[in-house]
Amino acid sequence: MSKSIPQSISKIIIAIDGPAGAGKSSVAKIIASKLNLTYIDTGAMYRAVTWLALRNSIMLEAQKDILLDLLSKAEITLLPGEKRQRVLLNGFEITDQIRTPEIVKYVSQVSAIPEVRSKLVSLQQQMGEVGGVIMDGRDIGTTVFPNADLKIFLIASSRERASRRQIQQRELGIEEDLDSIQAEIERRDFIDTTRAVSPLSQAADAILIDTDQITIYEVVDKIIATLNTKLGESKKGF
Ligand code: CDP
Repeated sequence: MSKSIPQSISKIIIAIDGPAGAGKSSVAKIIASKLNLTYIDTGAMYRAVTWLALRNSIMLEAQKDILLDLLSKAEITLLPGEKRQRVLLNGFEITDQIRTPEIVKYVSQVSAIPEVRSKLVSLQQQMGEVGGVIMDGRDIGTTVFPNADLKIFLIASSRERASRRQIQQRELGIEEDLDSIQAEIERRDFIDTTRAVSPLSQAADAILIDTDQITIYEVVDKIIATLNTKLGESKKGF
């Protein structure tokens, strides 16, 4: 049973940003369960839109309007899942389908489309406005919730991130070569950090944590300690 938490904590917003494989979702899930917060995986939403595009054989540049029309009628639902967040598109479960290498290949291109971003950002703002959330992504601290109570920016070397991703993919039954995963991660980092609209970047007031040499649990402890200090300073500690 999760312990009850004071009102002040139950309304907080925590933003966790960083590049692929830095440990955002693992860390966010543990903190969500420790503090009784709702975890929102925004990457899953961009992956869902990419699935929608591929499913309808939409050519991203030439047929952007078709994708935007489909997206305007689409309903993306995130539900708590056992291992990872469940994702439904128009009621159809696509939790595993959005984790394939095919989706990874196109997701950064889809995420760079300004109209896709504005639609998903406003959905994310609605999902989080009541507070009590921990949201992970690329632009949560800079764009989605610039006034978040706590902003964390996780990083790690691309080799380490590739190796973590290889383990996750194996659990899904997908075997990929380490060098190819690393190259794919670096390609995605490049597109994500150089796109025109809300690129991946560390908010000025985000706390940087390099996860290369420390475990997920040490990262969690650091974040909770930082949160406690912050809330203590504003007399809202728990
Ligand atoms: O799990 P991983 O870190 O590989 O990626 P993800 O969090 O599922 O995000 C997949 C892709 O969605 C990223 O490479 C970005 O292109 C995009 N994304 C974004 O643009 N903004 C977000 N807030 C979250 C994800």
